[in-house]
Amino acid sequence: MTQKVILTGVKPTGSLHLGNYIGAIKPFLDMARGSKDNYLFIADYHALNALYDPVAFKSNSVEMAAAYLALGLNPDETVFYRQSDVPEVFELMNLLCAVTPKGLMDRAHSYKASVDKNRAEGKDVDAGVNMGLYTYPILMAADILAANTDIVPVGKDQVQHVEFARDIAGYFNNTFKKDIFKLPEYRLEKTGAILPGLDGRKMSKSYKNDIHIFTDSKTRKNAVMKIMTDSKLPNEAKNPDENIIYQLYIHFANDQQIAEMREGFEKGGMGYGDAKKLLLAAVENYFAPFDPVYNDYMAKPKLVNDLLMAGALKVRKKARETLSEARETVGLHPIA
Ligand code: TRP
Repeated sequence: MTQKVILTGVKPTGSLHLGNYIGAIKPFLDMARGSKDNYLFIADYHALNALYDPVAFKSNSVEMAAAYLALGLNPDETVFYRQSDVPEVFELMNLLCAVTPKGLMDRAHSYKASVDKNRAEGKDVDAGVNMGLYTYPILMAADILAANTDIVPVGKDQVQHVEFARDIAGYFNNTFKKDIFKLPEYRLEKTGAILPGLDGRKMSKSYKNDIHIFTDSKTRKNAVMKIMTDSKLPNEAKNPDENIIYQLYIHFANDQQIAEMREGFEKGGMGYGDAKKLLLAAVENYFAPFDPVYNDYMAKPKLVNDLLMAGALKVRKKARETLSEARETVGLHPIA
């Protein structure tokens, strides 16, 4: 049996936080370990629709790549690249546009969410909607189809996009009566837990309630100390399951430490100040082996770039074949 091609993309957000790590990065790394024909790319063109700051845009991708590499992504096992370094994808997108009905894009959740929000605010339905956002699923289909992907591991929010990629592949194959594209399938990933942020809402960059994975110890400490608590005194019993500190601690401490904090909260005796100190120590300890590796990559952006370019070359070989065949199918000349 031939190996299935597994591919997924991540939008570069910059300054990754503990929620990104437990929710997405760690589950991906666990899944990818030891597997072959596995692709991960940084979807920078998808991020461009909403970020018009060239310096931040560039550094977000480097930070993201450095983080994945430092946290254990093995570029010999996973083909790791930046979307924008694979020009074949963009030409393929153009070919796919020719068979993609506009109505399909109108039904995309992400576009509909913008429309609904505008409507609720009494604005023009398409206010702030650019063509990058509107055609987002077609680019995503090109990412997927260019690499001849079988399986796309995604979170719930991206399932519809993968179904669209499948639809678009089908439209193309049917239109030209040739099975050019494999029909990709999504695989709903066991995403990690959703971590609470400093204020108890989901940890998120946009809520500014996040604790960064890689940061200096003073900033990390300040963040942990800001975690919201109620005003129970150290001696009072507290429910650990309603407690942000404990909800974070369980992901970074060892079993014995977790049991001790739990008991301290339940019986009383564990004050919030002490619990925060324990959490800080556990997070520091957890990332201590990765910190210097990350800093090293960040100090050598050229090395990160070279690694990503090497990954791009690998996927480009495939993408070129796919694109060439698709060109020929519609009546263009194949790529020389
Ligand atoms: N849209 C995805 C997200 O926001 C990222 C992405 C872009 C992607 N292209 C992809 C994911 C192709 C899987 C396959 O998370």
